[in-house]
Amino acid sequence: MIVAIDGPAGAGKSSVARAAAKQLGFKCLDTGAMYRAVAWLAVEEGVALDDEGALGRVAQECRISFIHDEGDPIARGITVNGHDVTEAIRTTEIDKAVSPVSAAPSVREAMTEEQRRIGRTGDYVIEGRDIGTVVFPDADLKIFLTATNEERAHRRVRQNADRGIGSIDYAEVLADIIRRDEADSTRAAAPLKPADDARIIDSTGTYIEDIIENICVLARMVQASDGAC
Ligand code: DC
Repeated sequence: MIVAIDGPAGAGKSSVARAAAKQLGFKCLDTGAMYRAVAWLAVEEGVALDDEGALGRVAQECRISFIHDEGDPIARGITVNGHDVTEAIRTTEIDKAVSPVSAAPSVREAMTEEQRRIGRTGDYVIEGRDIGTVVFPDADLKIFLTATNEERAHRRVRQNADRGIGSIDYAEVLADIIRRDEADSTRAAAPLKPADDARIIDSTGTYIEDIIENICVLARMVQASDGAC
């Protein structure tokens, strides 16, 4: 079973996806981390971020793996070509580089193929921007998680402060969120938008636990109805 959780930056997708996967006993895939890993490698290798052909080669040839603690199906980190980039992909530099990298159709093609391969290996909660529209258009449950710009920026500042990585300047984070949403929504390849059959959940002013519970109830209902067929 695939539960797709899409939505703009800072809407709480990662926390919700991880907690819902844990409750449901599913695995969890953070596709944004994969685009960030490609962006990190492109920067590291000095690839021009407007060189679509070179970006595509980086995406096709890189080896992305997730780091798991023993027995924990939820990844605690990510490696690319053997480098642990768990923290390095969360910097302000990568926040900026990931927009042109993820807009390149050749990069999206390579990542989409890999995400489909991974998703076919078990029950997954998969979070991203185009999971319900492009990667798994037949996902069993599609959620589009959103919140106001201001709430998302506040959450991202708190998250960066907790992690000790990325900007904790509210105005800078808000501007980056607005810039990335604009880039993600207006790009030609797989733009950020809700699937026609997605349930739209606005998390503004809502307890995250309620959203997780809501998604788990929906997922169990879908599972039960599939089992009944
Ligand atoms: O979820 P995130 O903020 O870590 O994602 C980083 C960037 O990757 C985001 O700005 C857009 C891109 N992305 C994408 O284009 N498609 C996805 N499925 C996931 C992320």
